[in-house]
Amino acid sequence: MRKSIIVHGGGGRAPTGPTGERQSVLDRAAAAGMRGRTAVEMVELAVHVVEDHPMFDSATGAVLTLDGECELDACLMTGDGRLGAVAGLTRTRYPISVARAVMEKTDHHLLVGSGATRFARLNGFPDYDPRTPERVAYWKRLRRDLRLGTDRPDFRFWKKLRFWHRKYGLFETCGACAIDARGGFAAATSTGGIWMKLPGRVGDTPVPGAGTCANAFGAISATGHGEGVMRHAFGRTAVELMRRLPCQEALEATIRLASKHGIECGIIGVDRRGRLGAAKSAGWMQVGIAGAR
Ligand code: GLY
Repeated sequence: MRKSIIVHGGGGRAPTGPTGERQSVLDRAAAAGMRGRTAVEMVELAVHVVEDHPMFDSATGAVLTLDGECELDACLMTGDGRLGAVAGLTRTRYPISVARAVMEKTDHHLLVGSGATRFARLNGFPDYDPRTPERVAYWKRLRRDLRLGTDRPDFRFWKKLRFWHRKYGLFETCGACAIDARGGFAAATSTGGIWMKLPGRVGDTPVPGAGTCANAFGAISATGHGEGVMRHAFGRTAVELMRRLPCQEALEATIRLASKHGIECGIIGVDRRGRLGAAKSAGWMQVGIAGAR
């Protein structure tokens, strides 16, 4: 099998910031992924590059909750049935590696909140504040513009923010799907979720079958409005379609469903024959690719 990888850094109605820089990070992430031996190593190495770049909503530069913190979600899943995920992880540089540690070092699949953070520390992931000055300034501006007012905004303001999310429709989750030389394949997704989410909110990313999924036919990573992706289990839909369809066709069929339900999202994937694909209902999604013919 020829090794190959595809990486996304989110999507949305229109790009914010320079698309050239965004593309070069995704290209670098795909190239980094190619240095991995197994599909798990490949997706982890690729996601690290994006987790480290403040332009994306994963780890460093993750968006902030209503309370001004970062709550990080990540998931890694393989075609041979292995799975690890974290949700509401705080103060960690590489959430995707904590998800991998959950997969490899425990009999669990998903750790959340303080338990996930404690697990990270016990497994050698040091305390790290992923908030950037730009994100904190934007959080303050949003609070002011949305007239959230107080130091610790109240949950009741969330209803206002739903309209703001609908208006801007921007999602900068990152993810990767890869196949290795032995035909093993995996998907990984890492995100800070959505701006001003309620503390404790978990999106589609760490939910297997929603924003991340793999089965014997293929693997996918999604970006977009997590509640919609989760509600319709688009990840599971896409990999099940790969039973009879090539990757690209399976993703396009899934995206037709998303469009029908008015859900803005994007999905990348790989199937068991090593075919890569990407499709979106959102206006824009950039991908980096390496190794594919
Ligand atoms: N798709 C990322 C999220 O909604 O959390």
